[in-house]
Amino acid sequence: MTALSLVAAAERTLPPVTLCLRAVTPDQARDGAGLVYRHRREGRSVAVQVAGGGDALARLVQACRDIGLAPSPELTLRLLDGPADLSLSPLGPLPGHGGPLRVALAGCGVVGGGVLPRLLDRPDIALVGVLVRDPAKARTPGPAPELVVTDPAALLAREPDVVIDTLSDATVSLSLIRAALLRGVHVVSASKQAVATDFDGLAGLAAATGATLRFSSAVGGGVPMLETVRQARAVGPVRRIEAVLNGTVNFLLNRLSEGVPFDLALAEAQAAGLAEADPTADLSGRDAAAKLFLLARAAFGPGATGPERVEALGEGFRPSGQPVRQLAVADCAGVRITLSPVGDDPLFADLADAGNAIRVTLADGRTLSQTGLGAGRRPTAESVWADLGDLLASRVGAGAGGDEL
Ligand SMILES: NC(=O)c1ccc[n+]([C@@H]2O[C@H](COP(=O)([O-])OP(=O)(O)OC[C@H]3O[C@@H](n4cnc5c(N)ncnc54)[C@H](OP(=O)(O)O)[C@@H]3O)[C@@H](O)[C@H]2O)c1
Repeated sequence: MTALSLVAAAERTLPPVTLCLRAVTPDQARDGAGLVYRHRREGRSVAVQVAGGGDALARLVQACRDIGLAPSPELTLRLLDGPADLSLSPLGPLPGHGGPLRVALAGCGVVGGGVLPRLLDRPDIALVGVLVRDPAKARTPGPAPELVVTDPAALLAREPDVVIDTLSDATVSLSLIRAALLRGVHVVSASKQAVATDFDGLAGLAAATGATLRFSSAVGGGVPMLETVRQARAVGPVRRIEAVLNGTVNFLLNRLSEGVPFDLALAEAQAAGLAEADPTADLSGRDAAAKLFLLARAAFGPGATGPERVEALGEGFRPSGQPVRQLAVADCAGVRITLSPVGDDPLFADLADAGNAIRVTLADGRTLSQTGLGAGRRPTAESVWADLGDLLASRVGAGAGGDEL
């Protein structure tokens, strides 16, 4: 059996890329890291030359770490001596779009609040509305008051070209996505529950109206899991997916294995912002189940179903002395979420608290894998942003690898 890294397999179709990035300011470093992210999620190796003085390299390294990218053999960062040839890194206007792109943002919390400054920074984007539940809530950054609406219909009435859905209420998300697609409005959604609840219905609507729905951040936050599955499928048939998809449960399993009592570990996860006040969706496995369904559909097509077995994490869990993970698996034996020992498997055994990871095994035994930050404002917002860029690039025929956003 041959094990290939993601990059080694992907290089069969996508050549490595060299970028030259200016990182004089934190915003330039953030945008540069975003460009690196988009290439990495396509499976390319990236070499970056960084221009902008002595601190530029540190600035870019930090911006990459913030979204879960770390220097590695697949990502090399080097300070540039001498003048920068920025022609290597096109960061120009949106591809071929006549006039500003009208974007509506639904939700302005952890994820939406991370996307908002990116939207406001771009002269070629017109932010037409921001949907929230409580318009009086203090937000940093906050949208201008005239942009704020509390009714999804009012958001769509502002005639966006694209809706970015970062709502926490999956029912409202689902009806907003449906209404947008029905009008031919493109959608980028972070909501796994909304997309998984009516996957076929949404796909049918999008096909009927010519709109596009993207939802990379809904699975794995900043880890490009759906892209990894698609890259695997481009190489050959998929035999198996194994993944850790829930950072909260991963954090709890790490603490429980250190002997911390369940209640204290949960309180720590909540204090760290990793677990919600009501952690039921994480602990029951419902969160991971929706993500696994989306991965299984990407890997195996319309025949794939959601998990038939979902093991919950509860107070009765007793650590066994070896690393246990909430493992999401889809293969010919079925689709399931279990709390399973992972031995010394290097991908899963040492997975840090909020870490997510995926391994895709092809029918011929080769594997592709990815690991990174499965949640959090910066990584998740970067994934939403990359979806918006890919959506625009594909809409104007520049291909999903367009670099313009
Ligand atoms: N947080 C992460 O790291 C992460 C990672 C991957 C995917 N996601 C997904 O991203 C989505 C957003 O998560 P989040 O962590 O950003 O949630 P959040 O911080 O709770 O923010 C949710 C936003 O949705 C708004 N909202 C909720 N219900 C609404 C309603 N009925 N009408 C209008 N606005 C409503 C809230 O308005 P108010 O501000 O007025 O309350 C808030 O702005 C979820 O689907 C989540 O599963 C999150």
